[in-house]
Amino acid sequence: MARWILRKAVPADIDSIKSIEERVQSCPWSKEGLLREINEKSGKTHFWCICPSTNTSEILGYICFRILGRECYLLNISVDKSCQAKGIGRLLFRFMIKFLDRRKVQRLALDVHKENEDAMSFYSRQGLSLAAPVGEVRGNFCVMEMKLFQE
Ligand SMILES: CC(C)(COP(=O)(O)OP(=O)(O)OC[C@H]1O[C@@H](n2cnc3c(N)ncnc32)[C@H](O)[C@@H]1OP(=O)(O)O)[C@@H](O)C(=O)NCCC(=O)NCCS
Repeated sequence: MARWILRKAVPADIDSIKSIEERVQSCPWSKEGLLREINEKSGKTHFWCICPSTNTSEILGYICFRILGRECYLLNISVDKSCQAKGIGRLLFRFMIKFLDRRKVQRLALDVHKENEDAMSFYSRQGLSLAAPVGEVRGNFCVMEMKLFQE
């Protein structure tokens, strides 16, 4: 049996998600912001969480991404402190990539804070590259990107 399962986040998950967000993000999303994305009805935003297969109400991490045409923006990926470095972030990321491949999405992009070197290393391991060298970036965020499905 698989150790973890992925499922869509639902409004009842909000308190667990918000407390992970507070523990791991330097600029945590508000509860209202998280709920807005979970409840988004246009079908563009996707919010999934990962749980132990033995307890699907316990949330270990989550991923939120938005598909606009042939592009996807990764808005948030978070793994609870005690569960980091066990391959959960990679599983969430790989899940998203499969999801995007099925929809023939061609490019993935995200913003990452210049000082979040851990996240940049993680994204590099997943195949993303910086759109411009960190030293040339104005402001606090760097864009990272990755080509996906090509016709
Ligand atoms: C970034 C984050 C999602 C990674 O999740 P994780 O479960 O800890 O990462 P994994 O265990 O799946 O690691 C996957 C790969 O990334 C690498 N990696 C993960 N964290 C890393 C770090 N801090 N430094 C260097 N490499 C790292 C791992 O070595 C691993 O490499 P491999 O595929 O070659 O084995 C998680 O640490 C996190 O929630 N961080 C805080 C929130 C955050 O900054 N999110 C991103 C910005 S929104």
